[in-house]
Amino acid sequence: MLGALLNLRSTCFAFLFLLSFRPLIMKAQTPIYVGSNCQNNPQQHLSSEYKTNIKKMLKWASSDSASSKGYNSTRIGNESLVYGYYDCRGDVVGYFCQFCVSNAAREVPRRCPNRVSAMVWYDYCILKYSNERFFGTVLTNQSWHALGTKNISNKAEIQKDEDFVRSLITKATKETNQLYYMDYFNLSFTQRRFGMVQCSRDLTNEGCRQCLEAMLTQVPICCGQKIGWLILSGTCMIRYDHQMFYLLNNQTSSLPVPNMQTAEELEKAWRIWCAGKCLELMDPILVKSFIGSEVERCIHIGLLCVQEDAKDRPTMSDVVVMLVSETMALPKPKHPAFSTGIMDSDEVPTSKRSKNLSNNDVTVSISLPR
Ligand SMILES: *[C@@H]1O[C@H](CO)[C@@H](O)[C@H](O)[C@H]1NC(C)=O
Ligand SMILES: *[C@@H]1O[C@H](CO)[C@@H](O)[C@H](O)[C@H]1NC(C)=O
Ligand SMILES: *[C@@H]1O[C@H](CO)[C@@H](O)[C@H](O)[C@H]1NC(C)=O
Ligand SMILES: *[C@@H]1O[C@H](CO)[C@@H](O)[C@H](O)[C@H]1NC(C)=O
Ligand SMILES: *[C@@H]1O[C@H](CO)[C@@H](O)[C@H](O)[C@H]1NC(C)=O
Ligand SMILES: *[C@@H]1O[C@H](CO)[C@@H](O)[C@H](O)[C@H]1NC(C)=O
Ligand SMILES: *[C@@H]1O[C@H](CO)[C@@H](O)[C@H](O)[C@H]1NC(C)=O
Repeated sequence: MLGALLNLRSTCFAFLFLLSFRPLIMKAQTPIYVGSNCQNNPQQHLSSEYKTNIKKMLKWASSDSASSKGYNSTRIGNESLVYGYYDCRGDVVGYFCQFCVSNAAREVPRRCPNRVSAMVWYDYCILKYSNERFFGTVLTNQSWHALGTKNISNKAEIQKDEDFVRSLITKATKETNQLYYMDYFNLSFTQRRFGMVQCSRDLTNEGCRQCLEAMLTQVPICCGQKIGWLILSGTCMIRYDHQMFYLLNNQTSSLPVPNMQTAEELEKAWRIWCAGKCLELMDPILVKSFIGSEVERCIHIGLLCVQEDAKDRPTMSDVVVMLVSETMALPKPKHPAFSTGIMDSDEVPTSKRSKNLSNNDVTVSISLPR
């Protein structure tokens, strides 16, 4: 009980924190499926012990991801060994990582039924398992890509994006050693480009560099003519876009504020609260394990934090008091402000295009903004 409450508090803090940047909760309800790669080589009958171990591994991933640094590996069983690994996008940890991983864990048996090994990608995480120990192995022999619809208008951009991505690779594998990096550059006075590189964090710096370089060499062939693209292998990915698609980044301090999408989502959150149905905002799994009134309180406080007039908003210490004191009456939130701060972005596309690539046992369908 106490555990659940504490857990709720930290979830709540994460929620409030994110809400103060932008309302991710809506998005978090549907991690976007990117693709999967299911293997059964050679065609094997899976023992019931192996199947049980897969289940255990998936259960482990769903819970471990709540408290890890966003990635972890495990080995389950002693005869029919299952090696499991999950990795969230570098800027995604805690509740949001768990949300993505638990979703992937729920879906992997459906995407890859009775497979000896599998990988599933979502927009914010990847989940893999195998009977072979794959940790640290660089995979570049297969790759998948997805493209936005817009063509670049100036060929010079191809060289610029390559140089930019190369600088991200250096940051990820030499300067920060965190195996992911995201940043933007000014293409012109009016246009920015955003990029991200990320590896499975079981790789070494050198393995990560190799993987990303291998993807980068394919960019001029597959992707460079488009303004938005994504290329990935089993152990790394590169994304390039004209819209900001990542969450928080220490290096990018000032980005444009106006954003109708954010406004609409906040507005929707506020209306749902007003209708007294704020539980709709939360992940149904979470709701089940928490007391409704606590969740409601958390969202209520969240809404107080985004009121239009900054004077009405509680300070951080008020928020702490409100969270700790379960009985303190909370004021009714007023209409929220529609721009929530420096990190607003155009991340959520209003319209999406799906690209569906099929390769034997592999299906990749990816949505990129136009
Ligand atoms: C990673 O998973 C192992 C089990 O394989 C577990 O013992 C360990 O605590 C996990 N680490 C983190 C940081 O969650
Ligand atoms: C490992 O194998 C031994 C003997 O085969 C068995 O008794 C034990 O329960 C197994 N442990 C697990 C965790 O499966
Ligand atoms: C890709 O490489 C992995 C690991 O080396 C191997 O298991 C797999 O069969 C290869 N796939 C293809 C299509 O060559
Ligand atoms: C983009 O370029 C391709 C080939 O260069 C062309 O076929 C296509 O019509 C262009 N698309 C747009 C939206 O301009
Ligand atoms: C991009 O341009 C803005 C001004 O338009 C400037 O403040 C910012 O520092 C530039 N960023 C980079 C990475 O060059
Ligand atoms: C962001 O910066 C803070 C302090 O400057 C540092 O502790 C933290 O590790 C940085 N985070 C990332 C993701 O680089
Ligand atoms: C992808 O293509 C397959 C086969 O053509 C089809 O069954 C599936 O519905 C498609 N998925 C999407 C998201 O378009």
